[in-house]
Amino acid sequence: MRMVVLLIVAGLVDLSFPQRLSAVQWLNYLRNRHRPLMWAERLDDECPLECDCPASFPVAMYCHSRNLQHIPYVPSRIKYVYLQRNQITGIQDGVFDNATSLIWIMLHQNQLSSDRLGKNVFSKLKNLDRLYLDNNELTRVPPNLPKSIKDLRLGHNKIAKIQSSAFEGMYDLATLHLQANHIEDVGGAFKGLKSLNVLDLRKNKLKKIPYNLPEILHQLYLEFNHIESIPADFLTMYPNLQFVRLAHNKLTNEGIPPNTFNVSGLVELDLSHNKLKKIPTVSKSLENLYLQANQINEFSLSSFCDVVDMMNYSQLKVLRMEGNKISAKDVPAKAVYCLRLAVSIHL
Ligand SMILES: *[C@@H]1O[C@H](CO)[C@@H](O)[C@H](O)[C@H]1NC(C)=O
Ligand SMILES: *[C@@H]1O[C@H](CO)[C@@H](O)[C@H](O)[C@H]1NC(C)=O
Ligand SMILES: *[C@@H]1O[C@H](CO)[C@@H](O)[C@H](O)[C@H]1NC(C)=O
Repeated sequence: MRMVVLLIVAGLVDLSFPQRLSAVQWLNYLRNRHRPLMWAERLDDECPLECDCPASFPVAMYCHSRNLQHIPYVPSRIKYVYLQRNQITGIQDGVFDNATSLIWIMLHQNQLSSDRLGKNVFSKLKNLDRLYLDNNELTRVPPNLPKSIKDLRLGHNKIAKIQSSAFEGMYDLATLHLQANHIEDVGGAFKGLKSLNVLDLRKNKLKKIPYNLPEILHQLYLEFNHIESIPADFLTMYPNLQFVRLAHNKLTNEGIPPNTFNVSGLVELDLSHNKLKKIPTVSKSLENLYLQANQINEFSLSSFCDVVDMMNYSQLKVLRMEGNKISAKDVPAKAVYCLRLAVSIHL
């Protein structure tokens, strides 16, 4: 390896010699990669043969889609490592210990199992910002995750239970994806996550809305669960929630207390593909309401406007109600005033 490097350096002494340049190109060809011309500066900081470390972006290491079964050596200068779409089944403790500059680790679409993941694989990575572990075989949230992580993706694994300490102290975590797992209950695992903006729990086995969510939460995705009811104070407890998606659950009107969604702040509410017979009362500030594929059989304008006059009308822009038991003739004439901002109403 070192000889090859020195040869390249020698070849670079005078770039105007086409013969020398072609020697460099030949070497590049031979090694089937684009070697950085400035590589000489990093004699000791090599790139593993399985990967590419481009000259234009020397802090990145690309090792994705190569049938790898293990993690190659990650030099300490690397900040971004791409290991997705391989066949990595496990990672031993220590593998990333020298790679303390890492900011992103992309490990999605591998075959990682929790039993083959060391307890401290990621624990020394004090600068880690993104960790993508979706589409693996994990049955647990990896332990001892760095507290610096902002974006954690664990979707499409086999996680059934979340330990209450799983995300302890992760005060910078802003986005958490746990969709398509086997989660039945989250307990208070998210409680202290004071930066959490987006929580994705789609396609799990939740029977209830999780409690003890962080107050800052903006977007909550709960589609494709088994949720039947919603606590009355749910939205008043989370005043920052703007997007709530509850499509494809088992919600009935009996399970939704009267003013549950009559809270300002909410911008988008998706209740499609449930078992509603009536339109729940929503806040006048709501802009997008999705109610398609329920069993709604009346168009109750009072669900949107308790009073209709010049000054009091709904902010609703999009209302989707197709796949219910109503048609255009069921919409009362006063809807023109109450829903005056609506750009599209699907019936
Ligand atoms: C980390 O670096 C030290 C010193 O350079 C070396 O001895 C050790 O083998 C490295 N660890 C790994 C896991 O590569
Ligand atoms: C919705 O809440 C507002 C403000 O709290 C209240 O004035 C209004 O009557 C409520 N709407 C219904 C239909 O209960
Ligand atoms: C109607 O809107 C006006 C102006 O925003 C407000 O002062 C009034 O309280 C509203 N009335 C009702 C019944 O919501």
